[in-house]
Amino acid sequence: MTKPALFVDASLSPHAMELPFGKNQQTLQKSPKILILIALTIVLFTIVPLYYPLLGYTMKNYSQPPPNSYEPIDDSIQTPTNEKCDIFTGEWVPNPEAPYYTNTTCWAIHEHQNCMKYGRPDDGFMRWRWKPDGCELPLFNPFQFLEIVRGKSLAFVGDSVGRNQMQSLICLLSRVEYPIDVSYTTDENFKRWEYKSYNFTLATFWTPFLVKVNEADPNGPSHTGLFNLYLDEYDETWTSQIDNFDYVILSAGHWFYRSAIYYENRHVVGCRYCQIDNITDLPMYYGYRRAFRTAFRAINGLENFKGIVFLRTFAPSHFEGGLWNKGGNCLRTRPFRSNETNLEGEELELYMTQMEEFRGGEREGRERGVRYRVLDTTQAMLLRPDGHPSRYGHWPHENVTLYNDCVHWCLPGPIDTWGDFLLEMLKREGTRSHEENVKFKEKKFEGMR
Ligand SMILES: *[C@@H]1O[C@H](CO)[C@@H](O)[C@H](O)[C@H]1NC(C)=O
Ligand SMILES: *[C@@H]1O[C@H](CO)[C@@H](O)[C@H](O)[C@H]1NC(C)=O
Ligand SMILES: *[C@@H]1O[C@H](CO)[C@@H](O)[C@H](O)[C@H]1NC(C)=O
Ligand SMILES: *[C@@H]1O[C@H](CO)[C@@H](O)[C@H](O)[C@H]1NC(C)=O
Ligand SMILES: *[C@@H]1O[C@H](CO)[C@@H](O)[C@H](O)[C@H]1NC(C)=O
Repeated sequence: MTKPALFVDASLSPHAMELPFGKNQQTLQKSPKILILIALTIVLFTIVPLYYPLLGYTMKNYSQPPPNSYEPIDDSIQTPTNEKCDIFTGEWVPNPEAPYYTNTTCWAIHEHQNCMKYGRPDDGFMRWRWKPDGCELPLFNPFQFLEIVRGKSLAFVGDSVGRNQMQSLICLLSRVEYPIDVSYTTDENFKRWEYKSYNFTLATFWTPFLVKVNEADPNGPSHTGLFNLYLDEYDETWTSQIDNFDYVILSAGHWFYRSAIYYENRHVVGCRYCQIDNITDLPMYYGYRRAFRTAFRAINGLENFKGIVFLRTFAPSHFEGGLWNKGGNCLRTRPFRSNETNLEGEELELYMTQMEEFRGGEREGRERGVRYRVLDTTQAMLLRPDGHPSRYGHWPHENVTLYNDCVHWCLPGPIDTWGDFLLEMLKREGTRSHEENVKFKEKKFEGMR
């Protein structure tokens, strides 16, 4: 869907304050030493060979040669991280080696994010990498990623920022292989891709509100853009399709700024900015909270789902100098340092709201052995006001009604770091899954005593 989402001002005021991020999202649960030993042994056997992807499995596995030859990625940032290190709290540091693909080596870049094509004059925004406070985050290694996901499937469930991430991933993987289009429909909002040599499937499901929705008056003369959100009803376009996926990356955000009428139990319970006299105005967090609750309930209710759910947290926009539709723009060319800005106001509230609902979903999922993880991109992206297309999502003379885009991310660009995060999380999964399996079994046995 090319319709731009609606946004309100995210004014950034630079002052130093501790952010409420990543304090305990990724810490391993306490467990007996022996368990850790077993887990470590398993990790050593399953993961260590992956650090040498070029030695272990050479070119025999794929039909297409890498589309381009690149400098090898710096070894110093290939070392394994300390598994307890919170990878989501850190700083952006210069990385002159980047980017690892361009708009000529990767065809998957969506036009609106092809900033270089549309004349963005600076390219320094591509040359940063994320440095967690207590460790290094290895740069994305496409060989290693594809080995880990061999025979598996990954679904992006959400809006166009989710699609943005999928296209980044396709570009990051393009050094090894391009996928073929195996979509079930011609609808661009529901794409399915397959990496033949790895039997790895990628899919996107368009669901900007995560729940059932219809436009109140899609073709009417007023064309208000007002949505009816059925906050307790599943959006079956994705909930009926994800049973067999191994990984589901769920996200939602910017669309909740739009005006909407909220329904529960098929009754109007209120609305956001609908300006209808007899309907109570509710904050957008009301809808946001319930939408996540319903999405997690849908997943936890899937009998066959045995995958991992990743909540990809809200990625802040960076309109400065006005609202999104009042001349606001994002013209910075450098990242912030972490002491120059912080998450506040509506964005902080959205972040906290989704985390609270995540905890609820995780608790229920645990009963059923469904794993929940946080792909906590918020802090890293908060620091990247320079990574958006701004007006470089189309030619200046093009007659389009797009506003300055300070929501999506240029490709190549900082969103590529989400691939680094994802790969690191998948590598750590070996340890965590084992511990959780044991705990899950223990709990089951306790119940049988
Ligand atoms: C890629 O970007 C360059 C500028 O760096 C631009 O001239 C070119 O048209 C772009 N090519 C494509 C295929 O988007
Ligand atoms: C591909 O992976 C799927 C699981 O995602 C599996 O059911 C299927 O057997 C695999 N096919 C081959 C050829 O390995
Ligand atoms: C609001 O008023 C309209 C017309 O007066 C009525 O049809 C509608 O049911 C009312 N809605 C609520 C939520 O009371
Ligand atoms: C932020 O930290 C850097 C390095 O630690 C320091 O040089 C800079 O003055 C700080 N900026 C502010 C606004 O505190
Ligand atoms: C741009 O669109 C407006 C309104 O649709 C139209 O009046 C105008 O002629 C268009 N300009 C160009 C250069 O196509």
